[in-house]
Amino acid sequence: MRLGRNDICWCGSGKKYKKCHCAFDDALREYRRAGAIIPPRKIIKNANQIQGIKESAKINVAVLDYVSDHIRAGITTEEIDRWVYEQTVLHKAVPASLNYEGFPKSVCVSVNDEVCHGVPSSTVRLKDGDIVNVDVSTIRQGYFSDSSRMFCIGAVTDEKRRLVQTAKDSLYVGLQAVKPWGFLGDMGQAIHDFAKSNGYSVVREVGGHGIGLDFHEEPWVSYVSKRGTEMLMAPGMCFTIEPMMNMGSADIVLDEGNGWTVRTADGKPSAQWEIQVLVTEDGCEVLAW
Ligand code: MF3
Ligand code: CO
Repeated sequence: MRLGRNDICWCGSGKKYKKCHCAFDDALREYRRAGAIIPPRKIIKNANQIQGIKESAKINVAVLDYVSDHIRAGITTEEIDRWVYEQTVLHKAVPASLNYEGFPKSVCVSVNDEVCHGVPSSTVRLKDGDIVNVDVSTIRQGYFSDSSRMFCIGAVTDEKRRLVQTAKDSLYVGLQAVKPWGFLGDMGQAIHDFAKSNGYSVVREVGGHGIGLDFHEEPWVSYVSKRGTEMLMAPGMCFTIEPMMNMGSADIVLDEGNGWTVRTADGKPSAQWEIQVLVTEDGCEVLAW
């Protein structure tokens, strides 16, 4: 059904359609005619929702800042889980990971060859030379945020340090390609090309996701996609950029014991940083890092 120009816009802003998403829908219709995958309305955020997501993201960033200030050799990954739970609750929010599809902890902590979804444990103690990903996600008043950082514990080899740095740099490379009326594949290919030029591989099976009103929304975001393919980016879309970069092969294996932890198949190190971005009228904005 097509809205009349004076009807109230579908986005929930309360504004008249002609003053809100009318021109947006016209543009989308053209792209769809040309064969593009266009974003469904339910993932386009209005100003109110963006405000709520930003408040959630502030807490996510604060919790990761707390982890940055306290992480060190000798602690267990279960201690990080406790910090994340306590800090999140202190900010009147809830960890999005806790009980998510049965995930038993408040945060994912992935060490060395663990690619993602490492389950905090009292038996995993951080030691000199480890590289560690801490992936924090927050629900505040129904709005979701998600970001992760890498930490180098003590004296980390140059080889591992370069992997960690390249995974971080790849986010800036990807961000250059995030703008309205571009394609997610523009960003995916930019990141993949950058990883390959540095001698690294990118995990294919696990990617990023839309986020905001739910933890994982459309679209699924690949970092091995091709320029000009995947979903069209449009203002109001919010998603994560979180490529997993491996020192060796891209192949991964799932821990059958806990059903969560993903590791590199060859046992070589993996690194990942994650940011949450919003597509704006003239580019993008990083909401969580
Ligand atoms: N934070 C992860 C992501 O980036 C999701 C973790 S889901 C969990 O999508 F259940 F493993 F926590
Ligand atoms: Co994520």
